[in-house]
Amino acid sequence: MKNIALIGFMGSGKTAVSRALAKKIKRKIIDTDAVVEKRARMKIKRIFMECGEARFRKMEGSAARYAAGQKNVIIATGGGVVTRPGNIRALRKACLVVYLKNSFAVSAKRLRGRKDRPLFDHKNLKNARALFKKRRRLYKKAAHAVIATDKKTIKQVVNEIIKKAGR
Ligand code: S3P
Repeated sequence: MKNIALIGFMGSGKTAVSRALAKKIKRKIIDTDAVVEKRARMKIKRIFMECGEARFRKMEGSAARYAAGQKNVIIATGGGVVTRPGNIRALRKACLVVYLKNSFAVSAKRLRGRKDRPLFDHKNLKNARALFKKRRRLYKKAAHAVIATDKKTIKQVVNEIIKKAGR
């Protein structure tokens, strides 16, 4: 069976869902943000500050291609992975790409108090909301399957993914 890649906006639950899914179907997780941080030996926030977003996107692309090249894995992506068409192509080819679709309000609530997302500034929610709107169609276009998650538990989302993956 193909890999499963989770895409969606910051705070959509990609990390939490990937963990629960991995536990249930006994698969390894590759988190592209974690791959980038490990390779750069820097936190994402610092990569953005010191090297800029463009450099981060290059590293993210390389991490996404690496992840897509593995077998039987669950890939938790960063919210901006869909901004590069090459990333989408690589993921779609090797994975069932699942979009965890949630409302902006849910993302904002989940990320409240967190300072590790350079592109989600709680003091400037207007920008974050604009990014959310812009990204929505990219996620939709990149995904093989869409799961609306706002009113669901992690367990329910995991079960839906398993169903969609045909297991
Ligand atoms: C980003 C999302 C983040 C991280 C980086 C940029 C984005 O990942 O990759 O801060 O552009 O949406 P999460 O979606 O896991 O928060």
